[in-house]
Amino acid sequence: MDAASRPAVVIDNGSGYSKLGFSGNSEPSFTIPTAVAVNESFLNQSDSSSNGNSIAQYNAGIMADLDFFIGEEALSHSSGIYNVNYPMHHGQVQNWDTMEKFWQQCIFNYLRCDPEDHYFLLTDSPVTTPESREYAGEIMFETFNVPGLYIAVQSVLTLAAGYSTPKSDMTGVVVDIGDGSAHVVPVVNGYVIGSSIKSFPIAGNDVTQFVLQLLQERGELIPPEDSFDIARKVKEMYCYTCSDIVKEYSKHDRKPSKYIKQWSGVKPKTGVPYSVDVGYERFLGPEIFFHPEIYNDDFTTPLPDVIDSCVQSSPIDTRRALYKNIVLSGGSTMFKDFHKRLQNDVKKIVDDRIAASTARLGLDVKPQPVEVNVVAHSIQGYAVWFGGSVVASMPEFYESCHTKEDYEEYGASICRTSPIFKGMY
Ligand SMILES: Nc1ncnc2c1ncn2[C@@H]1O[C@H](COP(=O)(O)OP(=O)(O)OP(=O)(O)O)[C@@H](O)[C@H]1O
Ligand SMILES: [Mg+2]
Repeated sequence: MDAASRPAVVIDNGSGYSKLGFSGNSEPSFTIPTAVAVNESFLNQSDSSSNGNSIAQYNAGIMADLDFFIGEEALSHSSGIYNVNYPMHHGQVQNWDTMEKFWQQCIFNYLRCDPEDHYFLLTDSPVTTPESREYAGEIMFETFNVPGLYIAVQSVLTLAAGYSTPKSDMTGVVVDIGDGSAHVVPVVNGYVIGSSIKSFPIAGNDVTQFVLQLLQERGELIPPEDSFDIARKVKEMYCYTCSDIVKEYSKHDRKPSKYIKQWSGVKPKTGVPYSVDVGYERFLGPEIFFHPEIYNDDFTTPLPDVIDSCVQSSPIDTRRALYKNIVLSGGSTMFKDFHKRLQNDVKKIVDDRIAASTARLGLDVKPQPVEVNVVAHSIQGYAVWFGGSVVASMPEFYESCHTKEDYEEYGASICRTSPIFKGMY
């Protein structure tokens, strides 16, 4: 059996979580934190030149390469001699050595496959540099010896997942908010309009940080050793998007018992039980997408305005189609009613602009209203991975991949771009 008749390995690496699995499946087989715990004691030995024992240094170097953990296991080894590294920041790989270690265990320990037997599909952010794609290609072809590689833009994969309106439309605006990065990306017929991509400075990690800050300011006693993790869980379980912040405050004040939730746990060090009340944080957390200034004075443009300016900066003949298909992707778009608030706010911006220009020009005829549609769906948390699974199941996929032979003949520069194939639109 050759590699092209086996399912491809699909890996979506995120700043917070990596999703791993095989093409044709409807869910990733594993979703694990993108974290690597490295044994620092070996690293220090292999770096030190003071004792001049080069064999010991060499052995320590080998041990440092072997003695590490990834994912949840890495987080549980975070104390003592292990140091936890996060190879990705803001959706970009920051440390290629650590990333290579991470991929190694993803392939051999989690997916348990031989990389020489499978084509690979990796994802990258819409603002990843071509050099970064080259590094990824080099590691895949040189270290893992993969027979073929396709690196796809995450937003295009979200549309390929087929949750758009109308179905399978490869034109739309993808609002991808993960753990460390948030982008608004216009895609027309499967092609990203690079000049109109907008980045939003707040992502899931910031919401967690803000929820934690609010809880601490209110005097809730959270064990410091895992306060961030508790805030993340509180955020994921209890936060929601409100339609109007002032009304929401008064609703909470009128009937606190109805809205206050309790988080209970046991202090890891002492074993003493504790509980935390979760109140205004529930709606104030996600509110930072709509009023970013409450989190950081430097950020003043709300997400709906960023989406609007993304569409307005795209070619004029694509704008109606883009407003009609605003597709959500990424774990941080999963707050309850997030899509409703986004749709209302974007619609209001668009309607206000039309009303203002009609009044300014003194038009008698009313222009056709613009349809604004924010598409929420059941797989927002792993839409990118699922899109990758769909794309890698298409017959054209194997012909569109960069092969090991291409790599050997032309070098890593082939990985700078990947062709968009017909089946994707
Ligand atoms: N039900 C939920 N409600 C709100 N947020 C959630 C929910 N589930 C997960 N999240 C948040 O989504 C984020 C992870 O999303 P995702 O996996 O899309 O990010 P990523 O791919 O790791 O990061 P990035 O794409 O920014 O590099 C985390 O901040 C997590 O706390
Ligand atoms: Mg992501």
